[in-house]
Amino acid sequence: MNVALINGSSKLGQENNSKILLNFFEQKLIPHNTIFNYAVNKNPLNEEQIRELFTMDVIVIAFPLYCDAPPSHLVKMMIQIEDYSKNNTISKNLHVYIIANNGFYEGKQNEIALEIMKNWCDRAGFIYGQGIGHGAGEMLPYIKNVPLGHGPLKNLGKALDEIIKNINNKQRGENIFISPNFPYMLWRFMATNVFWNRRAKKNGISKKDIMRKL
Ligand SMILES: Cc1cc2nc3c(=O)[nH]c(=O)nc-3n(C[C@H](O)[C@H](O)[C@H](O)COP(=O)(O)O)c2cc1C
Repeated sequence: MNVALINGSSKLGQENNSKILLNFFEQKLIPHNTIFNYAVNKNPLNEEQIRELFTMDVIVIAFPLYCDAPPSHLVKMMIQIEDYSKNNTISKNLHVYIIANNGFYEGKQNEIALEIMKNWCDRAGFIYGQGIGHGAGEMLPYIKNVPLGHGPLKNLGKALDEIIKNINNKQRGENIFISPNFPYMLWRFMATNVFWNRRAKKNGISKKDIMRKL
């Protein structure tokens, strides 16, 4: 099968959580598939890339949740693809699978974004296969070397097994919403103290500034 992996993170050129999830996905995909990588950021896809996308069997789109929705640069690409699909006579037996990730702990936050992706598939004439909504996305860089399916990546391993089984059989499945296998209170403590406060400090913002802005 030809499988297109589209990375919809705006953080291209640096480590991003969508890429980590796509790497995990690739680890699980059986080797005889041919993978084509695409990235959408500020630049839209060119016509050749769009034409190429329509030769795929499966498209997997990974993206970060922005305000409960896919980011606008990805929406721009979706409109491009939808227009191309409507204006050309092409086989639309294309299955689309989604891996969304978000900053809050609960992967369920991605529910509306996955609905948006499904509606887009319906409009563009694609088959919406299934989606994964992964919470606590900013934790992924810290656990990316844990073997998939173990420890904090237990839920992700199971979700990827299911989506890959459906991809191999070109089947649809229910959306899956997961968080890392990691206690919420500990995640919250780490996210606040190790991640957000440290990042704020790096950008010249103190804890006091954050509170004042709230
Ligand atoms: C503009 C913006 C809006 C965001 N909106 C949400 C949101 O509505 N809910 C949420 O849980 N996380 C939200 N996030 C956090 C991102 O989804 C999260 O950091 C994600 O892991 C980034 O993934 P990436 O590294 O693949 O870009 C937002 C981040 C940004 C920059």
